[in-house]
Amino acid sequence: MDNTPNAENIMQTFEAARQGQVFKYYQALDPTDQAALLAQAATIDLKEVENLVQEHVFGSGESSVPLDGLEPAPYEALPENGGDAAQWEAAREAGAAAIAAGRVAAFCVAGGQGTRLGYDGPKGTYPVTPVTQKTLCQVFAEKIARSSERFGAPIHWFILTSEINNAATVEAFEAADYFGLPKAQVHFIVQGLVPAVDLEGKIILSEKGRIAMTPDGHGGSLRALVRSGAVDTMRTLGIDTVSYFQVDNPIVQCIDPAFVGFHLLGESELSSKMVPKAYPLEKVGHFCVQGGRNIVVEYSDMPEAMQAATDADGELRFRAGSVAIHVFDREFIARSGGNHAENALPFHRANKKIPYLNADGAIVQPEGPNGVKFEMFVFDALPLAKNPVIIEAARSEDFSPVKNAEGVDSPETCADDQCRMFAAWLRAAGEVIETDATGLPAFQFEISPRFAADRADFLAQWLTIQKRPSICAGTVLE
Ligand code: UD1
Repeated sequence: MDNTPNAENIMQTFEAARQGQVFKYYQALDPTDQAALLAQAATIDLKEVENLVQEHVFGSGESSVPLDGLEPAPYEALPENGGDAAQWEAAREAGAAAIAAGRVAAFCVAGGQGTRLGYDGPKGTYPVTPVTQKTLCQVFAEKIARSSERFGAPIHWFILTSEINNAATVEAFEAADYFGLPKAQVHFIVQGLVPAVDLEGKIILSEKGRIAMTPDGHGGSLRALVRSGAVDTMRTLGIDTVSYFQVDNPIVQCIDPAFVGFHLLGESELSSKMVPKAYPLEKVGHFCVQGGRNIVVEYSDMPEAMQAATDADGELRFRAGSVAIHVFDREFIARSGGNHAENALPFHRANKKIPYLNADGAIVQPEGPNGVKFEMFVFDALPLAKNPVIIEAARSEDFSPVKNAEGVDSPETCADDQCRMFAAWLRAAGEVIETDATGLPAFQFEISPRFAADRADFLAQWLTIQKRPSICAGTVLE
C-alpha cells in the first residue's frame, strides 16, 4: 500500500514525461523502499531532464567549443615575472583589510566521486602531508584557522559535499572536533544530483528501488549555495567575498590576501588564478578571451597544435593554465546560481559506464559506456562575470593536486611538492637546506599550517622564534 500521499501524482508525472520505467518494479518493493524511491523521484526536475535529453542525447550534443577569434587571456604577472610590485603590495593590503573586516569566506568543493584516486572515503579524508599524514580537510582547516588568527577575524568555511559523501565528511569533522575550528563557522552544503540516462534518454535504475543519480558537477556549487540558504547566511554575516578551491589541492592558499585584493580593487565578480603551463600539452583548462569575454577552454577541446603554439618571444601562446582557484563576489553567486535561465550554467555531457538493471531485473556492470551523465563546470560562470581578473600564481606555492593513485598528480608527487615548498620557505629565511636540482630536500619534514599558512606568514613567524629548531628528517614545525 502506498503510504505517501502524492505517490500517484509523482508516478503520473513520470509517465507523462515518458519516464514511467522508473516505477517498473515499484509494486514488488517493500513500503520502505517504495517511499525511498518516491522521495528520490520527487527531487528530480523532469523539465530539466527533458531539456538535457533533447539537447545532449538527441540533439547535436555538446558541440566542440568554437575556436574562432580565440585569444590568450591577459593576466597580472607576479612581480618576479615582470608584474608591478607596488600593485601587488596595494592588492595585499586591500585584501588583508577585507579579511580583517570579516568579509571573506573560504569555499571548498568536495562533492566529487574521486574515482581516479581509487579511494573509497570522501577525498577530504585522504592523508597527504609527508610526515604526520594529515588529511586534506585537516590541512585546509588549519590554514583557515591560522589565517583567522593572523588577520584577527572569524573566517567561515563553506564545504560542498554530495549525497554520496556528506555523512562521511561530517562524521570526519565531528570525530576530529572540527580540527579546532568553531563548529558554527563550518557549513556543509549538499550539492544537487541529476539522474543518469541511457542512450535513448531514459532515466536509469541502479537497483529496483533506486535511480542512478550523479552530482551535478562543481558548477552545481553555485546553485547549491543559493538553494541551501548559504548565500543568505553570508549576507547576514557580512561576507561578500568567497575564496573558492578544490579539495584535491593541499598547497592552495585558502585565503590569499593579494588575490582577494586584486579581486576587490578590480571590482571583479569572478577572479581566477593561472599558472603558466608546465609543458605544452598539460591537461588543464586554458584561460582565453573570445568576443570580449573570458572563457576557459579545456585541453580536450583545444587542438594540440594550438596548445603547443608559441608567440614571438618563443613562449607558449596559450600558457595560462586554470588551477581551479577563484574568488567570487557573493551577489554574483546569487545571480549565476539563481533561477534565471539567462544566467544558468550550461550542462556538459559525459558518456559513462553506469550499472543498470537488465530485462530480468538483475544488476549489470557494463563493459563500455552505456549512459550519459550531466555536469556543470564552475568556470562556465566566467563569461557571465563583470570585470573578471586573472592573476598569476606560483605553481610551487599554490598547486599540487592529488588526483591519481600513481604518476603525475599523485600522493607521492604532492608530498614531494610540499617538501620543496617548505625547503624554499626556509631558504628564503636564510636557512641552509640541501636539496637536489628540483628543490627537493634529502629528507621529509613538515611545516604545519598552524605555524604558517603561506610563505609571507612563514617568513614573519620564523623571525619571531628565539631558538630556531634545526630541521632534520621528521621535523614538524607546529
Ligand atoms: C579540473 C578542471 C581543470 C583544472 C583542474 C585543476 C574540470 C572539468 N576541469 O579538472 O580545468 O585545470 O581541475 O586541478 O573541472 N567536484 C564537486 N562536485 C562534482 C564534481 C566535482 O564538488 O559534482 C569537485 C571535486 O570534489 C574536486 C573538483 O571539483 O574538488 C575537481 O573535479 P575533477 O572532476 O577532479 O576535475 P579535474 O578533471 O581534475
